[in-house]
Amino acid sequence: MKIYLSMDSAAKALGSEEVAVALSAALEARGETVEVIRVGSRGMVWLEPLLEIDRGQGREAWGPVAPEDVAGILAGEVESLGLTEEIPFFARQTRLTFARCGVIDPLSLPDYEAHGGLAGLRRAATMTGEAIIDEMKTSGLRGRGGAGFPTGIKWDTVRMAHADQKYIVCNADEGDSGTFADRMIMEGDPFCLIEGMAIAGLCTGATKGYVYTRSEYPDAVAVMREAIIRARAAGVLGDDVLGSGRAFDMEVRVGAGAYVCGEETSLLNSLEGKRGVVRAKPPLPALEGFLGKPTVVNNVISLATVPVIFEKGAQHFADFGLGRSRGTIPVQIAGNVKHGGLFETAFGMSLGDLVEDIGGGTASGRPVKAVQIGGPLGAYFGRDKFDTPFGYEEFDGQGGLIGHAGVVVFDDSADMLGMARFAMEFCAVESCGKCTPCRIGAVRGVETLDRIKQGDGAAVELLTDLCETMKDGSLCALGGFTPYPVMSALESFPEEFGLTKEAAE
Ligand SMILES: Cc1cc2nc3c(=O)[nH]c(=O)nc-3n(C[C@H](O)[C@H](O)[C@H](O)COP(=O)(O)O)c2cc1C
Ligand code: SF4
Repeated sequence: MKIYLSMDSAAKALGSEEVAVALSAALEARGETVEVIRVGSRGMVWLEPLLEIDRGQGREAWGPVAPEDVAGILAGEVESLGLTEEIPFFARQTRLTFARCGVIDPLSLPDYEAHGGLAGLRRAATMTGEAIIDEMKTSGLRGRGGAGFPTGIKWDTVRMAHADQKYIVCNADEGDSGTFADRMIMEGDPFCLIEGMAIAGLCTGATKGYVYTRSEYPDAVAVMREAIIRARAAGVLGDDVLGSGRAFDMEVRVGAGAYVCGEETSLLNSLEGKRGVVRAKPPLPALEGFLGKPTVVNNVISLATVPVIFEKGAQHFADFGLGRSRGTIPVQIAGNVKHGGLFETAFGMSLGDLVEDIGGGTASGRPVKAVQIGGPLGAYFGRDKFDTPFGYEEFDGQGGLIGHAGVVVFDDSADMLGMARFAMEFCAVESCGKCTPCRIGAVRGVETLDRIKQGDGAAVELLTDLCETMKDGSLCALGGFTPYPVMSALESFPEEFGLTKEAAE
Protein backbone atom coordinates (compact mmCIF):
# COMPACT_ATOMS: atom_id res chain seq x y z
CA MET A 1 0.00 0.00 0.00
CA LYS A 2 1.17 3.52 -0.84
CA ILE A 3 -0.38 6.80 0.24
CA TYR A 4 -0.09 10.04 -1.71
CA LEU A 5 -0.80 13.48 -0.30
CA SER A 6 -0.37 16.76 -2.12
CA MET A 7 2.14 19.30 -0.83
CA ASP A 8 1.32 21.88 -3.48
CA SER A 9 0.84 25.29 -1.85
CA ALA A 10 -2.87 25.38 -2.79
CA ALA A 11 -3.28 22.07 -0.92
CA LYS A 12 -1.27 23.44 1.99
CA ALA A 13 -3.46 26.53 2.13
CA LEU A 14 -6.44 24.20 2.37
CA GLY A 15 -4.94 22.16 5.22
CA SER A 16 -2.79 19.37 3.75
CA GLU A 17 -0.11 19.78 6.43
CA GLU A 18 -2.65 19.19 9.19
CA VAL A 19 -3.83 16.13 7.26
CA ALA A 20 -0.22 14.91 7.04
CA VAL A 21 0.14 15.14 10.83
CA ALA A 22 -3.16 13.30 11.34
CA LEU A 23 -2.05 10.69 8.83
CA SER A 24 1.18 9.81 10.58
CA ALA A 25 -0.62 9.68 13.96
CA ALA A 26 -3.33 7.41 12.53
CA LEU A 27 -0.79 5.11 10.87
CA GLU A 28 1.17 4.89 14.12
CA ALA A 29 -2.01 4.10 16.06
CA ARG A 30 -2.73 1.31 13.59
CA GLY A 31 0.85 0.04 13.89
CA GLU A 32 1.27 0.31 10.13
CA THR A 33 4.41 1.33 8.27
CA VAL A 34 3.21 2.73 4.99
CA GLU A 35 5.09 4.84 2.52
CA VAL A 36 3.52 8.33 2.36
CA ILE A 37 4.61 10.13 -0.79
CA ARG A 38 4.17 13.89 -0.93
CA VAL A 39 3.26 14.92 -4.46
CA GLY A 40 2.27 18.03 -6.40
CA SER A 41 -1.37 18.73 -7.15
CA ARG A 42 -3.58 16.83 -9.57
CA GLY A 43 -5.14 20.21 -10.25
CA MET A 44 -8.58 19.52 -8.79
CA VAL A 45 -8.27 22.33 -6.32
CA TRP A 46 -11.81 22.02 -4.98
CA LEU A 47 -10.89 18.51 -3.79
CA GLU A 48 -7.73 19.56 -1.95
CA PRO A 49 -6.40 18.31 0.35
CA LEU A 50 -6.62 15.24 -1.88
CA LEU A 51 -5.53 11.95 -0.33
CA GLU A 52 -4.85 8.96 -2.57
CA ILE A 53 -4.32 5.36 -1.57
CA ASP A 54 -2.94 2.71 -3.88
CA ARG A 55 -3.60 -0.84 -2.74
CA GLY A 56 -2.39 -2.29 -6.03
CA GLN A 57 -5.53 -1.44 -8.03
CA GLY A 58 -4.68 2.15 -8.93
CA ARG A 59 -4.89 5.34 -6.92
CA GLU A 60 -8.20 5.82 -5.12
CA ALA A 61 -9.06 9.37 -4.05
CA TRP A 62 -10.61 11.11 -1.07
CA GLY A 63 -11.11 14.84 -0.91
CA PRO A 64 -11.36 17.40 0.45
CA VAL A 65 -9.96 15.58 3.47
CA ALA A 66 -10.01 17.03 6.99
CA PRO A 67 -7.64 15.71 9.69
CA GLU A 68 -10.57 14.06 11.50
CA ASP A 69 -11.44 12.05 8.37
CA VAL A 70 -8.11 10.27 8.18
CA ALA A 71 -8.63 7.47 10.71
CA GLY A 72 -11.95 6.53 9.08
CA ILE A 73 -10.41 6.51 5.61
CA LEU A 74 -7.62 4.17 6.73
CA ALA A 75 -10.18 1.92 8.43
CA GLY A 76 -12.15 1.68 5.17
CA GLU A 77 -15.17 3.44 6.69
CA VAL A 78 -15.27 6.41 4.31
CA GLU A 79 -16.34 5.96 0.73
CA SER A 80 -13.81 7.16 -1.83
CA LEU A 81 -14.37 9.25 -4.96
CA GLY A 82 -13.17 6.24 -6.97
CA LEU A 83 -9.96 6.13 -8.94
CA THR A 84 -8.46 9.60 -9.27
CA GLU A 85 -8.01 9.25 -12.99
CA GLU A 86 -11.67 8.31 -13.44
CA ILE A 87 -13.00 11.48 -11.78
CA PRO A 88 -14.69 13.20 -14.77
CA PHE A 89 -12.76 16.48 -14.34
CA PHE A 90 -9.54 14.48 -14.65
CA ALA A 91 -10.66 11.80 -17.11
CA ARG A 92 -11.69 14.39 -19.71
CA GLN A 93 -8.22 15.98 -19.85
CA THR A 94 -5.37 15.42 -22.26
CA ARG A 95 -2.38 15.64 -20.01
CA LEU A 96 0.83 16.21 -21.94
CA THR A 97 2.59 19.04 -20.07
CA PHE A 98 1.07 18.06 -16.73
CA ALA A 99 1.31 14.28 -17.22
CA ARG A 100 3.48 13.81 -14.13
CA CYS A 101 2.17 16.61 -11.94
CA GLY A 102 0.54 15.18 -8.82
CA VAL A 103 1.72 11.71 -9.85
CA ILE A 104 5.41 11.67 -8.96
CA ASP A 105 7.54 12.77 -6.04
CA PRO A 106 8.57 16.18 -7.44
CA LEU A 107 12.16 15.92 -6.21
CA SER A 108 12.86 12.32 -7.18
CA LEU A 109 14.88 12.20 -10.38
CA PRO A 110 14.47 8.38 -10.62
CA ASP A 111 10.68 8.82 -10.32
CA TYR A 112 10.84 11.52 -13.00
CA GLU A 113 12.79 9.24 -15.35
CA ALA A 114 10.48 6.31 -14.65
CA HIS A 115 7.61 8.48 -15.96
CA GLY A 116 9.24 9.51 -19.23
CA GLY A 117 11.43 12.29 -17.87
CA LEU A 118 14.77 13.07 -19.59
CA ALA A 119 13.83 11.09 -22.71
CA GLY A 120 13.31 14.38 -24.57
CA LEU A 121 16.62 15.85 -23.46
CA ARG A 122 18.48 12.64 -24.32
CA ARG A 123 17.01 12.83 -27.82
CA ALA A 124 17.67 16.56 -28.22
CA ALA A 125 21.28 16.04 -27.09
CA THR A 126 21.88 13.96 -30.23
CA MET A 127 20.40 16.62 -32.54
CA THR A 128 21.87 19.75 -34.10
CA GLY A 129 20.44 23.13 -33.14
CA GLU A 130 18.87 23.35 -36.58
CA ALA A 131 17.15 19.97 -36.21
CA ILE A 132 15.82 21.00 -32.80
CA ILE A 133 14.36 24.16 -34.38
CA ASP A 134 12.68 22.05 -37.10
CA GLU A 135 11.10 19.89 -34.43
CA MET A 136 9.89 22.94 -32.51
CA LYS A 137 8.41 24.48 -35.64
CA THR A 138 6.66 21.21 -36.54
CA SER A 139 5.13 21.04 -33.07
CA GLY A 140 3.45 24.41 -33.64
CA LEU A 141 4.15 25.38 -30.01
CA ARG A 142 3.32 29.03 -29.31
CA GLY A 143 4.25 30.96 -26.20
CA ARG A 144 1.93 30.27 -23.28
CA GLY A 145 2.83 33.50 -21.44
CA GLY A 146 0.41 35.70 -23.32
CA ALA A 147 1.43 36.80 -26.78
CA GLY A 148 1.31 33.35 -28.41
CA PHE A 149 4.49 33.92 -30.41
CA PRO A 150 5.87 30.75 -32.11
CA THR A 151 8.54 29.36 -29.79
CA GLY A 152 10.64 27.78 -32.56
CA ILE A 153 11.03 31.11 -34.37
CA LYS A 154 12.09 32.86 -31.15
CA TRP A 155 14.69 30.17 -30.43
CA ASP A 156 15.97 30.35 -34.00
CA THR A 157 16.61 34.09 -33.70
CA VAL A 158 18.74 33.47 -30.62
CA ARG A 159 20.45 30.47 -32.21
CA MET A 160 21.45 32.49 -35.28
CA ALA A 161 22.72 35.46 -33.25
CA HIS A 162 26.50 35.73 -32.84
CA ALA A 163 27.59 36.38 -29.27
CA ASP A 164 30.08 35.14 -26.68
CA GLN A 165 27.24 34.46 -24.25
CA LYS A 166 23.53 33.72 -24.62
CA TYR A 167 20.84 33.15 -22.02
CA ILE A 168 17.58 31.28 -21.45
CA VAL A 169 15.26 33.19 -19.15
CA CYS A 170 12.15 31.49 -17.85
CA ASN A 171 9.34 33.90 -17.12
CA ALA A 172 7.78 32.51 -13.94
CA ASP A 173 6.36 35.79 -12.72
CA GLU A 174 2.80 34.51 -13.21
CA GLY A 175 0.99 37.72 -12.38
CA ASP A 176 -2.30 37.07 -14.20
CA SER A 177 -5.39 36.82 -12.05
CA GLY A 178 -6.71 33.29 -11.66
CA THR A 179 -3.54 31.61 -12.91
CA PHE A 180 -1.43 29.01 -11.15
CA ALA A 181 -0.16 26.65 -13.88
CA ASP A 182 3.45 27.88 -13.61
CA ARG A 183 3.44 27.45 -9.85
CA MET A 184 1.92 23.98 -10.12
CA ILE A 185 4.65 22.80 -12.50
CA MET A 186 7.45 24.32 -10.44
CA GLU A 187 6.12 22.70 -7.26
CA GLY A 188 4.89 19.46 -8.80
CA ASP A 189 7.30 18.64 -11.66
CA PRO A 190 10.35 20.93 -11.47
CA PHE A 191 12.63 18.64 -13.50
CA CYS A 192 10.29 19.10 -16.45
CA LEU A 193 11.05 22.84 -16.52
CA ILE A 194 14.76 22.17 -16.05
CA GLU A 195 14.68 19.71 -18.95
CA GLY A 196 12.85 22.18 -21.21
CA MET A 197 15.34 24.93 -20.41
CA ALA A 198 18.28 22.59 -21.03
CA ILE A 199 16.88 21.70 -24.47
CA ALA A 200 16.51 25.42 -25.23
CA GLY A 201 20.12 25.91 -24.14
CA LEU A 202 21.47 23.07 -26.29
CA CYS A 203 19.52 24.39 -29.25
CA THR A 204 20.53 28.03 -29.08
CA GLY A 205 24.02 27.76 -27.60
CA ALA A 206 22.94 29.47 -24.39
CA THR A 207 24.90 28.08 -21.46
CA LYS A 208 23.15 29.86 -18.63
CA GLY A 209 19.51 30.00 -17.60
CA TYR A 210 17.49 31.88 -15.04
CA VAL A 211 14.05 31.20 -13.64
CA TYR A 212 12.59 34.56 -12.67
CA THR A 213 9.77 34.22 -10.20
CA ARG A 214 8.16 36.21 -7.41
CA SER A 215 8.53 36.26 -3.65
CA GLU A 216 4.88 35.18 -3.27
CA TYR A 217 5.95 31.73 -4.52
CA PRO A 218 8.26 30.55 -1.68
CA ASP A 219 7.39 26.86 -2.10
CA ALA A 220 8.03 26.94 -5.84
CA VAL A 221 11.36 28.67 -5.22
CA ALA A 222 12.42 26.07 -2.66
CA VAL A 223 11.42 23.09 -4.82
CA MET A 224 13.05 24.55 -7.96
CA ARG A 225 16.30 25.31 -6.12
CA GLU A 226 16.51 21.81 -4.68
CA ALA A 227 15.68 20.25 -8.05
CA ILE A 228 18.47 22.27 -9.71
CA ILE A 229 20.98 21.00 -7.11
CA ARG A 230 19.88 17.41 -7.74
CA ALA A 231 19.89 17.83 -11.54
CA ARG A 232 23.44 19.23 -11.34
CA ALA A 233 24.57 16.33 -9.16
CA ALA A 234 23.13 13.88 -11.70
CA GLY A 235 24.86 15.54 -14.68
CA VAL A 236 21.61 16.84 -16.19
CA LEU A 237 22.98 20.35 -15.69
CA GLY A 238 26.61 21.44 -15.76
CA ASP A 239 29.56 21.43 -18.14
CA ASP A 240 28.55 18.25 -19.94
CA VAL A 241 24.76 17.94 -20.10
CA LEU A 242 23.99 14.18 -20.12
CA GLY A 243 27.35 13.52 -21.77
CA SER A 244 26.53 15.72 -24.76
CA GLY A 245 29.74 17.70 -24.45
CA ARG A 246 27.59 20.84 -24.22
CA ALA A 247 27.14 23.00 -21.13
CA PHE A 248 24.03 24.39 -19.51
CA ASP A 249 23.40 25.50 -15.95
CA MET A 250 20.72 27.57 -14.29
CA GLU A 251 19.53 29.31 -11.15
CA VAL A 252 16.41 30.84 -9.63
CA ARG A 253 16.04 34.60 -9.11
CA VAL A 254 13.24 36.06 -7.02
CA GLY A 255 11.57 39.42 -7.72
CA ALA A 256 9.50 41.31 -5.19
CA GLY A 257 6.33 40.76 -7.22
CA ALA A 258 5.14 43.48 -9.58
CA TYR A 259 2.71 42.74 -12.40
CA VAL A 260 4.78 44.68 -14.92
CA CYS A 261 7.86 42.58 -14.08
CA GLY A 262 6.15 39.78 -16.03
CA GLU A 263 6.57 41.87 -19.19
CA GLU A 264 9.74 40.45 -20.67
CA THR A 265 11.88 43.60 -20.95
CA SER A 266 10.83 44.85 -17.53
CA LEU A 267 11.68 41.37 -16.22
CA LEU A 268 15.14 41.58 -17.76
CA ASN A 269 15.74 44.93 -16.07
CA SER A 270 14.62 43.47 -12.75
CA LEU A 271 16.86 40.43 -13.31
CA GLU A 272 19.78 42.79 -13.86
CA GLY A 273 19.03 44.41 -10.50
CA LYS A 274 17.44 47.50 -11.99
CA ARG A 275 13.95 48.96 -11.53
CA GLY A 276 11.30 47.00 -13.39
CA VAL A 277 10.70 49.48 -16.21
CA VAL A 278 9.71 48.41 -19.70
CA ARG A 279 12.36 48.77 -22.43
CA ALA A 280 11.49 50.04 -25.88
CA LYS A 281 11.59 47.37 -28.63
CA PRO A 282 13.61 47.03 -30.84
CA PRO A 283 16.05 45.72 -29.91
CA LEU A 284 14.30 42.42 -29.32
CA PRO A 285 15.44 40.47 -26.24
CA ALA A 286 16.29 37.64 -28.65
CA LEU A 287 19.10 39.86 -29.94
CA GLU A 288 19.83 42.15 -26.98
CA GLY A 289 18.30 40.75 -23.84
CA PHE A 290 19.82 39.93 -20.46
CA LEU A 291 22.97 42.04 -20.00
CA GLY A 292 22.63 43.01 -23.66
CA LYS A 293 23.14 39.41 -24.88
CA PRO A 294 20.84 37.26 -27.06
CA THR A 295 18.19 35.85 -24.74
CA VAL A 296 15.26 33.48 -25.05
CA VAL A 297 12.48 34.65 -22.76
CA ASN A 298 9.79 32.01 -22.46
CA ASN A 299 6.98 31.28 -20.08
CA VAL A 300 7.20 28.27 -17.71
CA ILE A 301 4.52 26.34 -19.59
CA SER A 302 6.13 26.98 -22.99
CA LEU A 303 9.41 25.54 -21.67
CA ALA A 304 7.83 22.73 -19.64
CA THR A 305 5.99 21.58 -22.77
CA VAL A 306 9.23 21.11 -24.70
CA PRO A 307 10.25 17.77 -23.08
CA VAL A 308 7.07 15.98 -24.14
CA ILE A 309 7.49 17.31 -27.70
CA PHE A 310 10.91 15.69 -27.89
CA GLU A 311 9.86 12.58 -25.99
CA LYS A 312 6.78 11.80 -28.07
CA GLY A 313 7.66 13.61 -31.29
CA ALA A 314 6.56 16.99 -32.61
CA GLN A 315 3.84 15.48 -34.77
CA HIS A 316 2.21 13.76 -31.79
CA PHE A 317 1.89 17.18 -30.15
CA ALA A 318 0.78 18.95 -33.32
CA ASP A 319 -1.95 16.39 -33.88
CA PHE A 320 -3.88 17.95 -30.99
CA GLY A 321 -5.52 21.33 -31.33
CA LEU A 322 -7.40 23.65 -33.60
CA GLY A 323 -6.22 25.82 -36.51
CA ARG A 324 -2.96 27.55 -35.61
CA SER A 325 -3.38 26.66 -31.92
CA ARG A 326 -1.58 23.33 -31.71
CA GLY A 327 -1.24 20.91 -28.81
CA THR A 328 -2.79 21.32 -25.40
CA ILE A 329 -3.39 24.25 -23.10
CA PRO A 330 -3.62 24.10 -19.31
CA VAL A 331 -6.76 26.12 -18.67
CA GLN A 332 -6.95 27.44 -15.14
CA ILE A 333 -10.57 27.77 -14.01
CA ALA A 334 -10.98 30.12 -11.06
CA GLY A 335 -13.13 32.78 -9.44
CA ASN A 336 -16.74 32.06 -8.52
CA VAL A 337 -16.77 28.48 -9.84
CA LYS A 338 -17.80 25.15 -8.39
CA HIS A 339 -14.93 23.03 -9.69
CA GLY A 340 -11.93 25.30 -9.77
CA GLY A 341 -8.63 23.91 -10.94
CA LEU A 342 -6.29 23.15 -13.80
CA PHE A 343 -7.78 21.46 -16.84
CA GLU A 344 -5.29 20.56 -19.59
CA THR A 345 -7.06 20.03 -22.88
CA ALA A 346 -6.41 20.16 -26.60
CA PHE A 347 -7.25 23.59 -28.03
CA GLY A 348 -10.78 23.72 -29.40
CA MET A 349 -13.06 23.09 -26.43
CA SER A 350 -15.74 25.78 -26.20
CA LEU A 351 -15.59 28.35 -23.44
CA GLY A 352 -19.11 27.43 -22.35
CA ASP A 353 -18.16 23.76 -21.92
CA LEU A 354 -15.15 24.74 -19.86
CA VAL A 355 -17.13 26.98 -17.55
CA GLU A 356 -20.49 25.23 -17.24
CA ASP A 357 -19.64 21.60 -17.83
CA ILE A 358 -16.07 21.18 -16.58
CA GLY A 359 -16.19 23.99 -14.03
CA GLY A 360 -19.73 23.06 -13.00
CA GLY A 361 -21.03 26.65 -13.08
CA THR A 362 -20.69 29.06 -10.20
CA ALA A 363 -19.85 28.18 -6.60
CA SER A 364 -22.64 30.50 -5.48
CA GLY A 365 -25.17 28.50 -7.53
CA ARG A 366 -26.31 31.67 -9.32
CA PRO A 367 -26.16 31.95 -13.13
CA VAL A 368 -22.83 32.77 -14.76
CA LYS A 369 -22.81 36.37 -15.95
CA ALA A 370 -19.37 36.74 -17.46
CA VAL A 371 -15.88 35.34 -17.49
CA GLN A 372 -12.62 37.20 -17.78
CA ILE A 373 -10.06 35.30 -19.80
CA GLY A 374 -6.35 36.07 -19.99
CA GLY A 375 -5.73 37.89 -16.74
CA PRO A 376 -6.41 41.49 -15.75
CA LEU A 377 -5.88 42.67 -19.33
CA GLY A 378 -8.29 40.11 -20.78
CA ALA A 379 -11.76 40.82 -22.10
CA TYR A 380 -14.99 39.96 -20.31
CA PHE A 381 -17.03 37.46 -22.30
CA GLY A 382 -20.74 37.25 -21.58
CA ARG A 383 -22.75 34.09 -22.22
CA ASP A 384 -23.35 35.19 -25.83
CA LYS A 385 -19.69 34.33 -26.50
CA PHE A 386 -19.68 30.95 -24.77
CA ASP A 387 -19.57 29.15 -28.13
CA THR A 388 -16.07 30.52 -28.77
CA PRO A 389 -13.60 27.65 -29.10
CA PHE A 390 -10.42 27.94 -27.03
CA GLY A 391 -7.88 29.06 -29.62
CA TYR A 392 -5.67 32.13 -30.16
CA GLU A 393 -7.29 33.31 -33.39
CA GLU A 394 -10.81 32.36 -32.26
CA PHE A 395 -10.53 34.51 -29.12
CA ASP A 396 -8.91 37.33 -31.05
CA GLY A 397 -11.85 37.27 -33.48
CA GLN A 398 -14.20 37.90 -30.55
CA GLY A 399 -12.17 40.83 -29.24
CA GLY A 400 -10.44 38.80 -26.53
CA LEU A 401 -7.22 37.00 -25.79
CA ILE A 402 -6.16 33.74 -24.19
CA GLY A 403 -3.17 35.16 -22.34
CA HIS A 404 -1.94 32.59 -19.84
CA ALA A 405 -5.28 30.76 -20.08
CA GLY A 406 -6.77 31.90 -16.80
CA VAL A 407 -10.57 31.88 -16.78
CA VAL A 408 -12.17 33.83 -13.92
CA VAL A 409 -15.88 33.27 -13.46
CA PHE A 410 -18.42 35.84 -12.21
CA ASP A 411 -22.07 35.28 -11.30
CA ASP A 412 -25.01 37.56 -12.08
CA SER A 413 -24.32 39.74 -9.04
CA ALA A 414 -21.07 41.07 -10.57
CA ASP A 415 -20.90 44.84 -11.00
CA MET A 416 -19.42 45.26 -14.49
CA LEU A 417 -18.91 49.01 -14.22
CA GLY A 418 -17.05 48.27 -11.01
CA MET A 419 -14.94 45.66 -12.82
CA ALA A 420 -14.12 48.15 -15.60
CA ARG A 421 -13.07 50.68 -12.95
CA PHE A 422 -10.95 47.99 -11.28
CA ALA A 423 -9.13 47.34 -14.59
CA MET A 424 -8.21 51.02 -14.89
CA GLU A 425 -7.24 51.23 -11.24
CA PHE A 426 -5.08 48.11 -11.57
CA CYS A 427 -3.31 49.64 -14.55
CA ALA A 428 -2.75 52.91 -12.68
CA VAL A 429 -1.26 51.08 -9.69
CA GLU A 430 0.88 48.65 -11.71
CA SER A 431 2.02 51.04 -14.46
CA CYS A 432 5.81 51.28 -14.74
CA GLY A 433 5.34 54.97 -15.54
CA LYS A 434 7.40 55.03 -18.71
CA CYS A 435 4.72 56.19 -21.15
CA THR A 436 1.96 58.79 -20.82
CA PRO A 437 -1.11 56.97 -22.21
CA CYS A 438 -0.77 54.34 -19.50
CA ARG A 439 0.64 56.39 -16.59
CA ILE A 440 -1.85 59.26 -16.93
CA GLY A 441 -4.55 57.55 -19.00
CA ALA A 442 -5.31 54.90 -16.40
CA VAL A 443 -5.78 57.54 -13.68
CA ARG A 444 -8.11 59.52 -15.97
CA GLY A 445 -9.89 56.27 -16.77
CA VAL A 446 -10.77 55.74 -13.09
CA GLU A 447 -12.04 59.32 -12.86
CA THR A 448 -14.11 58.96 -16.04
CA LEU A 449 -15.70 55.72 -14.83
CA ASP A 450 -16.58 57.44 -11.57
CA ARG A 451 -18.34 60.15 -13.60
CA ILE A 452 -20.28 57.50 -15.52
CA LYS A 453 -21.30 55.87 -12.25
CA GLN A 454 -22.64 59.21 -11.08
CA GLY A 455 -24.87 59.34 -14.18
CA ASP A 456 -22.74 61.49 -16.51
CA GLY A 457 -23.66 59.78 -19.81
CA ALA A 458 -21.44 62.10 -21.88
CA ALA A 459 -18.39 60.62 -20.17
CA VAL A 460 -18.90 57.31 -22.04
CA GLU A 461 -17.63 58.87 -25.27
CA LEU A 462 -14.64 60.24 -23.40
CA LEU A 463 -13.94 56.77 -22.01
CA THR A 464 -14.08 55.24 -25.49
CA ASP A 465 -11.71 57.90 -26.79
CA LEU A 466 -9.33 57.38 -23.89
CA CYS A 467 -9.33 53.61 -24.48
CA GLU A 468 -8.42 54.19 -28.15
CA THR A 469 -5.50 56.39 -27.09
CA MET A 470 -4.26 53.85 -24.54
CA LYS A 471 -4.58 51.03 -27.07
CA ASP A 472 -2.70 52.82 -29.84
CA GLY A 473 -0.24 54.88 -27.83
CA SER A 474 1.02 52.64 -25.01
CA LEU A 475 4.50 51.21 -25.15
CA CYS A 476 3.54 47.78 -23.81
CA ALA A 477 0.45 45.64 -23.35
CA LEU A 478 -0.23 46.81 -19.80
CA GLY A 479 -1.52 50.17 -21.01
CA GLY A 480 -2.33 48.81 -24.47
CA PHE A 481 -4.62 46.00 -23.34
CA THR A 482 -6.33 47.55 -20.30
CA PRO A 483 -9.00 48.82 -22.74
CA TYR A 484 -9.99 45.17 -23.39
CA PRO A 485 -11.70 44.52 -20.04
CA VAL A 486 -13.06 48.08 -19.97
CA MET A 487 -14.54 48.13 -23.48
CA SER A 488 -15.78 44.53 -23.37
CA ALA A 489 -17.65 45.28 -20.13
CA LEU A 490 -19.14 48.37 -21.76
CA GLU A 491 -20.07 46.56 -24.97
CA SER A 492 -21.54 43.47 -23.32
CA PHE A 493 -23.29 45.21 -20.42
CA PRO A 494 -24.11 48.76 -21.68
CA GLU A 495 -27.08 49.15 -19.35
CA GLU A 496 -24.68 49.07 -16.39
CA PHE A 497 -23.00 52.14 -17.88
CA GLY A 498 -26.36 53.90 -18.28
CA LEU A 499 -26.66 53.07 -22.01
CA THR A 500 -29.05 51.06 -24.12
CA LYS A 501 -27.59 48.28 -26.33
CA GLU A 502 -28.29 50.38 -29.45
CA ALA A 503 -26.58 53.45 -28.02
CA ALA A 504 -23.51 51.36 -27.10
CA GLU A 505 -23.26 50.11 -30.68
C1 LIG B 1 2.14 43.65 -18.29
C2 LIG B 1 2.58 42.30 -18.77
C3 LIG B 1 2.71 41.25 -17.87
C4 LIG B 1 3.14 40.00 -18.33
N1 LIG B 1 3.25 38.99 -17.41
C5 LIG B 1 3.71 37.78 -17.82
C6 LIG B 1 3.89 36.73 -16.88
O1 LIG B 1 3.60 36.87 -15.69
N2 LIG B 1 4.37 35.55 -17.35
C7 LIG B 1 4.68 35.35 -18.68
O2 LIG B 1 5.14 34.28 -19.04
N3 LIG B 1 4.52 36.33 -19.58
C8 LIG B 1 4.05 37.53 -19.19
N4 LIG B 1 3.92 38.53 -20.11
C9 LIG B 1 4.32 38.27 -21.51
C10 LIG B 1 5.83 38.44 -21.68
O3 LIG B 1 6.13 39.80 -21.97
C11 LIG B 1 6.38 37.58 -22.82
O4 LIG B 1 5.57 37.75 -23.95
C12 LIG B 1 6.47 36.11 -22.48
O5 LIG B 1 7.20 35.88 -21.31
C13 LIG B 1 7.13 35.37 -23.63
O6 LIG B 1 7.14 33.99 -23.37
P1 LIG B 1 6.29 32.99 -24.25
O7 LIG B 1 6.62 33.29 -25.68
O8 LIG B 1 6.75 31.64 -23.84
O9 LIG B 1 4.86 33.24 -23.96
C14 LIG B 1 3.46 39.80 -19.69
C15 LIG B 1 3.31 40.86 -20.59
C16 LIG B 1 2.86 42.09 -20.14
C17 LIG B 1 2.73 43.20 -21.12
S1 SF4 C 1 2.15 50.85 -21.09
FE1 SF4 C 1 2.36 51.28 -18.88
S2 SF4 C 1 3.59 49.58 -18.12
FE2 SF4 C 1 3.83 49.62 -20.35
S3 SF4 C 1 5.62 50.92 -20.72
FE3 SF4 C 1 3.87 52.27 -20.77
S4 SF4 C 1 3.75 53.03 -18.65
FE4 SF4 C 1 5.03 51.21 -18.59
